[in-house]
Amino acid sequence: MAFSLHAVFIVSVLICTLLNPAQGDTSTGSFIHSRAAYYPDSDEKGSETAGRCGYGSFGATINYGDVAAASDLYRDGVGCGACYQVRCSNSKYCSDEGVTVVITDQGSSDHTDFIMSKKAFRKMAQNPYAASDLLSQGIVDIEYKRVSCSYPKNNITIKIDESSDYPYYLAFVIWYQQGQKDITAVQLCETINFNCKLLDRSYGSVFTTTSPPSGPLSLRMLLSGEDGDEKWVVPVNSIPENWKKGDIYDSGVQVEE
Ligand SMILES: *[C@@H]1O[C@H](CO)[C@@H](O)[C@H](O)[C@H]1NC(C)=O
Repeated sequence: MAFSLHAVFIVSVLICTLLNPAQGDTSTGSFIHSRAAYYPDSDEKGSETAGRCGYGSFGATINYGDVAAASDLYRDGVGCGACYQVRCSNSKYCSDEGVTVVITDQGSSDHTDFIMSKKAFRKMAQNPYAASDLLSQGIVDIEYKRVSCSYPKNNITIKIDESSDYPYYLAFVIWYQQGQKDITAVQLCETINFNCKLLDRSYGSVFTTTSPPSGPLSLRMLLSGEDGDEKWVVPVNSIPENWKKGDIYDSGVQVEE
């Protein structure tokens, strides 16, 4: 009996994970009331414009396009990559689950916390008919809470920004931020003598440094939780010595909490 209940639990968690890759159920916080709008021109996915997180066109496709611009939750860029469960409040139209969005941009409308992609906005509804009703309202009452991001098919990934100039200036953006903590500091360390340099957050998820350390570079990310818990994550893979703008490097790690 106990075993079969356990199995049912695992199966349902698996199904949830498959349906909703960025959704975690480790969150214990309570929901906060607010409002949400959507990008009228976003069609199915997120904003194709560069966006204040630095994700570029990738920002439209992350989490299958279930993305949002945040106003206060942008937090000077620290909020980029964070995941929120957002559900609308009208029980006539709205599902209990709502949708899990990733913050990819900054923006606000009339007292909103989120401007969502149309696809994500529609997902808050119970069915396609209710979704049309929601869309026609434009801005709706919602409640939200921070949840863990998870991308089972992707490790945390580094993309060297086009503004980089080897070997004098290095800028990169961090993709597939995972878990429920913020990346509050990033260091690059030489793998030979462990000389480390703290990077600047240029904006959003973009980190930069002039005169980066040389040789293969080991990345270190400080993950900070709301409860003040902090830990340095050191990916297994280094950024190669001859890094180039436009290149994409798999850090080799996933973060779960
Ligand atoms: C993540 O990194 C590990 C270690 O390098 C690697 O074995 C694995 O294939 C990577 N996973 C994905 C989904 O890329």
